[in-house]
Amino acid sequence: MRILLTGSNGLIGRAVNASLAAEGHDVFCLTRPQSRHQERMIHWDPVAGSINKGELENFDAVVHLAGETIVGRWTPAKKARILDSRVKGTQLLCESLANLNKRPPVLVAASAVGYYGDRGDQLMTEESSVGSLYLSGVTKAWEEAAEPARTNGIRVVNLRIGFVLSKAGGGLAAMLPPFKLGVGGRVGSGRQYLSWIAIDDVVGAIAHAVLTSSLHGPVNAVAPNAVTNREFTKALGSVLGRPTIFPLPVFAARLAMGEMADNLLLASTRVDPVRLRETGYEFKYPDLRGALRHVLGKNL
Ligand SMILES: NC(=O)c1ccc[n+]([C@@H]2O[C@H](COP(=O)([O-])OP(=O)(O)OC[C@H]3O[C@@H](n4cnc5c(N)ncnc54)[C@H](OP(=O)(O)O)[C@@H]3O)[C@@H](O)[C@H]2O)c1
Repeated sequence: MRILLTGSNGLIGRAVNASLAAEGHDVFCLTRPQSRHQERMIHWDPVAGSINKGELENFDAVVHLAGETIVGRWTPAKKARILDSRVKGTQLLCESLANLNKRPPVLVAASAVGYYGDRGDQLMTEESSVGSLYLSGVTKAWEEAAEPARTNGIRVVNLRIGFVLSKAGGGLAAMLPPFKLGVGGRVGSGRQYLSWIAIDDVVGAIAHAVLTSSLHGPVNAVAPNAVTNREFTKALGSVLGRPTIFPLPVFAARLAMGEMADNLLLASTRVDPVRLRETGYEFKYPDLRGALRHVLGKNL
């Protein structure tokens, strides 16, 4: 297949690019001019609104992952970049795809389980309502920005991705230094749910969404068993062979990370991958300890 990929320099994009290329697909990367040089690059500037539509013709699928990283201090300017890069970028891409002579049949667009917000023990399905955190509003607007593609006959899958487990970057890589030093621990009460997914299964879910014609709309990309922060902490400590006896109090998390702490570390989001299950996706890493051993290279 001829596949167009945005966000190809990111944690998920790099893994998707490598996997699709290894399977023999022709992958073209839609990247910003300042991004790292790659083979088969097409340039766009999602926020400034520039894109060369002529270069977007004749793709069999589009995988859209681009967006300002949510890591970092959430100043008003950073929050605006988190929102604008996603909403304006998705609008620009989808309006451009909608106006092509030969539109791609499918667009798989990243979204996030942050859509559901802070929901305690409730099990969220794709039918559940939007939450009330900042990231909930961002993800809702981000998904809605794909409307021009949807209304022009492109099958759009909004992949609501959970906390991605990878050694190469993202939240788990950031947690490793304190945990390896034996000063890691639960955050706050540790009762908040964390919906995680191994990087291999994010890549697998994207391929599954491209190939499964019955899938459209929101699709939860999380492993079948969400765990509490306390359970996650224990599992990580045990896989690393380190103690986890130093909890991070809520005030310290807020002091260190500001609003990001409430949206990511302290929010309880327990998500069920109903649509992936119903369409027969088989998780490579459904169990947390097995997933951690695999991504951290600690196989027994
Ligand atoms: N990793 C996770 O745990 C996780 C969980 C839930 C949802 N997601 C979502 O999945 C998508 C991919 O995640 P990721 O972890 O691979 O993200 P990432 O490592 O932060 O990479 C995102 C990519 O987006 C592009 N980008 C960065 N800043 C941008 C900006 N200001 N405007 C437009 N594009 C920009 C860059 O690609 P180029 O340099 O090629 O342009 C970058 O490599 C993101 O939208 C993220 O919100 C990730």
